[in-house]
Amino acid sequence: MWEIDWQSESETEVTGCALAAALRPGDVIALVGDLGAGKTRLVQAVAKALGVPDEVVHSPTFTLIHEYPAVFPIRHCDAYRLRNPEEFADLGLDELFGMDGVAFVEWADRVTHDLPRDHLRIELSVTGLTTRHACFTATGPRSAEILRQLQG
Ligand SMILES: Nc1ncnc2c1ncn2[C@@H]1O[C@H](COP(=O)(O)OP(=O)(O)O)[C@@H](O)[C@H]1O
Ligand SMILES: [Mg+2]
Repeated sequence: MWEIDWQSESETEVTGCALAAALRPGDVIALVGDLGAGKTRLVQAVAKALGVPDEVVHSPTFTLIHEYPAVFPIRHCDAYRLRNPEEFADLGLDELFGMDGVAFVEWADRVTHDLPRDHLRIELSVTGLTTRHACFTATGPRSAEILRQLQG
């Protein structure tokens, strides 16, 4: 586990850049935290570091999966509006978690059972107007490797 406090959005961006550098196709990032915690903002920062303009990345609505072409495809899904977990499975998880790209899932704790076993869990919480607390947890060997790179 690794924890970090961000004092500002630019600090969130710095971590986003570091995360981008550590990611490779097949990786899955589970984002957890209340509305406004910064889940989408972090995806923006990672995507930007991989060549996707900020304005392209926003919260996917109605559980649709967005795909941003970058060095490798970045897939972005939001489980917020799911009525039940089965809806998530219907979205086409083979593609979302395709080994050719990286997947980000917002509100991932609603679909824990459908996530690949080895994913990096990032729990965000609001600590102030521009401050956020982030807790990174690895759930397998590959996510542990990402964590090691982030800490190093
Ligand atoms: N340090 C920070 N990191 C991330 N977002 C921040 C930070 N400080 C302020 N914010 C603001 O918080 C909001 C986070 O929104 P968003 O990323 O859409 O949240 P979520 O996707 O978790 O609902 C944005 O308006 C962003 O500008
Ligand atoms: Mg969001």
